[in-house]
Amino acid sequence: MLPFALWPASGEAPTWGVMYDFAPADTADKATLYSDLLAAADALTRDEPDPVANMANLAALIWQFLPDLNWSGFYRMVDDELVLGPFQGKPACIRIPLGRGVCGAAAASEQTLLVADVHAFPGHIACDAASASEIVVPIRHDGRLIGVLDLDSPRTARFDAQDAQGLEMLVAQIAGRIAGP
Ligand code: SME
Repeated sequence: MLPFALWPASGEAPTWGVMYDFAPADTADKATLYSDLLAAADALTRDEPDPVANMANLAALIWQFLPDLNWSGFYRMVDDELVLGPFQGKPACIRIPLGRGVCGAAAASEQTLLVADVHAFPGHIACDAASASEIVVPIRHDGRLIGVLDLDSPRTARFDAQDAQGLEMLVAQIAGRIAGP
């Protein structure tokens, strides 16, 4: 059974007035959590062409599904720097040059960065003093970097290789739906 329901539950998929009733499984099993998250993310974005709407819903969905987060959101590549996109959490740093902070380092290297202790990361940009660990996943579409997905946690070493793999699959799935024209 899918981890969500749409309302109204039957008939043609409506384009308005839909209530999304997502319910992450009550499980510590990350494989199940990510499989449910990917299914919900696909359903949520598949029929919507607006990239801002899709990023906003994805940031909220990740926030809802993954435990122990204090920030979940997107930075977009705009004129060779990262610019804040839709997110959940406290207001954040708006512009990040390539190579700066965890986000800029992940964007410059186009590699996922897992940071177990942000205080030990040279140049980490603190948007929320509560952040203890972070994962940043580059997002590519049509052969170019279009942004990064950034998650922060108040728990040290919150993210592991399974999170990296699940989130890389997620961004591969939704890249074309947040890329814009
Ligand atoms: N910590 C990030 C900045 C973005 S906030 O965490 C939302 C960094 O070092 O790039």
